[in-house]
This record gives sequence, C-alpha cells and structure tokens, in this order.
Amino acid sequence: MPIIAPSILSADFLKLGADIEMVNNSEADWFHLDVMDGRFVPNISYGMSIIAQMKKQARKPFDVHLMILEPEKYFEAFAAAGADILSVHLEVSPHLHRSLQAIKALGMKAGVAVDPHTPVSLLADVIHDVDLVCMMSVNPGFGGQKFIEHTHQKIKALRQMITERGASTLIEIDGGVTLDNAAAIIASGADALVAGNTVFASPDPTDTIKRLKQVGK
Ligand code: DX5
Ligand code: ZN
Repeated sequence: MPIIAPSILSADFLKLGADIEMVNNSEADWFHLDVMDGRFVPNISYGMSIIAQMKKQARKPFDVHLMILEPEKYFEAFAAAGADILSVHLEVSPHLHRSLQAIKALGMKAGVAVDPHTPVSLLADVIHDVDLVCMMSVNPGFGGQKFIEHTHQKIKALRQMITERGASTLIEIDGGVTLDNAAAIIASGADALVAGNTVFASPDPTDTIKRLKQVGK
C-alpha cells in the first residue's frame, strides 16, 4: 500500500489542531509540511515555529519539504522543530552530497526534491545517500494545481535507477495527486503520495485518505 502524506498547506489554519487530529486518527502515514520562502518559490507559507507547535500534537512522522534558498542554513532549526524527513531542492543545492550528510548527521532522513524540469539522471551518483526523492509533479509554490503527465516517465526512469543500483530510496510524488490519478502514479513506480487539496477540500478527509491508501490494491 502507498505511503500517504497529507499536505498541511491545504489545511484550515484556523482549526489546525482539529486537522492534525484528523490526520492522527486517519490511515495517513506522514504529515507533509511545505516551507516556502517567497524567493525560491513565489509564495510564503510557514516555518519552524509553527512546525514545532504542531509537533506537540502530531503522532506521525514529519516529512518537511523545504522550498527555500540556502536550505543548509536551517537544518539544525528544522531538526529541533521536529522534522523526521528533511528534503532540499536539488536546484538550490550546489553541494547536494554535503547537504545530505548534514541532514543525516542531525538524525533525520535525507530527501531531495526535484522540479518538473530537473532530470532524475542528476541523482545517479548520490542515489545511495538519498532516503526519499520528492518528485514535483507541479511547479512548486501552491496547492491545488494540475498534475503534469510527463511525471510518469520520470517516475519510471527513477524506479529503474533505484533498482539497477540496488538503492532503497523511496519515490514520493508531490502535486496534483487525486483519487483519479493515484493508481496510475503507483503503477508507474511511486511509493508515497502527497495530497493537499484532494484530502482537505474533500467532504470527508478521513475517508479520502482511506481511499488513497487503498489505491493499487
Ligand atoms: C506545492 C507543495 C505541495 C502541495 C501539494 O508546492 O509542495 O506539497 O501542498 O498540494 P496539492 O496536493 O493540492 O497539489
Ligand atoms: Zn510539498
């Protein structure tokens, strides 16, 4: 069954506690937390203080997706805030190998996020050091966008690389995941699905998570 990571970007921030409790009591596996700086992406979301507060109530791992410039400046702060998996964008990581080691040295799993235009072949020489690839299937910055179909080819290419090299990297798909396209995404080779709008804009988020979890069974 796929790993399901509801994206809190689409939650109702006026009742964040209730939305955290919903995820706690659902079949979801992780919380997906999107940090945006208004520089790498044209939007600003929330940062470590909100994450640290959420951590007091959440009972599932925090999958933190940094969409910020110079992410390495903040690894310690996000570790202290409660990140369990920390992903940096390849496009802003001139020394990606060093960043991955630094994230792991702080006790977190190390992730790499890749924009739709970034070829997965760029990950070949570090794949053994990557716990999670957060593959963007929309241009990062906003929830509720349309899934980019070319992502299927990228998932297949990355799955082949992981298999050929004997790595244990998880493939996570982030952006535009719906109940209609989730099965095809899993069939292409993804392990984990982020879902923001699909979960939080649905009439019954708990049931939507359950249905995403059943995908491909
Ligand atoms: C977009 C974020 C996503 C976003 C996904 O930049 O990285 O995690 O919250 O939202 P949906 O599932 O609505 O596309
Ligand atoms: Zn994300």
